[in-house]
Amino acid sequence: HFIYHLRGLNPIAQSIRQLFNCGYVSIVPGDSDEDETIKMQLGKEAAQYLKKTINNGDIVAVTGGTTMAQIPRAMENISSLKDITVVPGRGGLGEKVEIESNTIAAELAKKLKAQYKLLYIPDNLSPETMESVINEPGIREILKTVRSADILLHGIGGAEEIGQRRGLSEKEIAEISKKGAVAEAFGFYFNKDGKVVHTTTSVGLTIADLKNIRIVIAIAGGANKAPAIQAFLRYHSPTVLITDEGAARKLLELE
Ligand code: BG6
Repeated sequence: HFIYHLRGLNPIAQSIRQLFNCGYVSIVPGDSDEDETIKMQLGKEAAQYLKKTINNGDIVAVTGGTTMAQIPRAMENISSLKDITVVPGRGGLGEKVEIESNTIAAELAKKLKAQYKLLYIPDNLSPETMESVINEPGIREILKTVRSADILLHGIGGAEEIGQRRGLSEKEIAEISKKGAVAEAFGFYFNKDGKVVHTTTSVGLTIADLKNIRIVIAIAGGANKAPAIQAFLRYHSPTVLITDEGAARKLLELE
């Protein structure tokens, strides 16, 4: 059964890679919308890919989310790497502690015997307060590290769903949808053409930093996420995409 699936998945991965100019595409069998354990497989696949591509001295930025939370769990203990730093990609996006980027960064650092730097910045600070917080020398130094990330591992979500999860008001969600947002990744909201239409007021990686990152790895699955994945892939290439069969098949249907 498994082999049968795999045989069909390779050509799908190839098509997605060509359509979106992805650096690499990996598809795990199944659909995480229907089966929660598929997220574990996504985490495993992402952990293996990271292990293969990480170099000594790398700064690894991670986002939050339920999919991302599976990566440290799936990662084996590695002690051969030198001078790795793990950081959250953005600070204070309003996620629960268990799936927050700071938590995932600290857990991943433990597995890689790496150092970590965390960003604890409350949400919804006034612009003036935000300005003075980011000018604090300690925070400034962490932000500098975040913004020179070599590898970014991130989740992708549906705009509305992520807005709700982060406690945005009905009004804010309606405004974001009105701007055409279908996808969210690390605090940025994208429309279906992959244009940024809304940004969360939080600090960390900016859109301009992305092009300087050696490897951007998106981890997202489930057929329902296909439009969001499509939007993000239109935004950034060459992304490495780690997804599941449900999302991958739907993605090709949409194209
Ligand atoms: C967030 C990330 O925490 O998780 C986003 O910052 C992403 O990049 C979201 O949109 C996806 O969450 P999940 O739980 O669907 O993996």
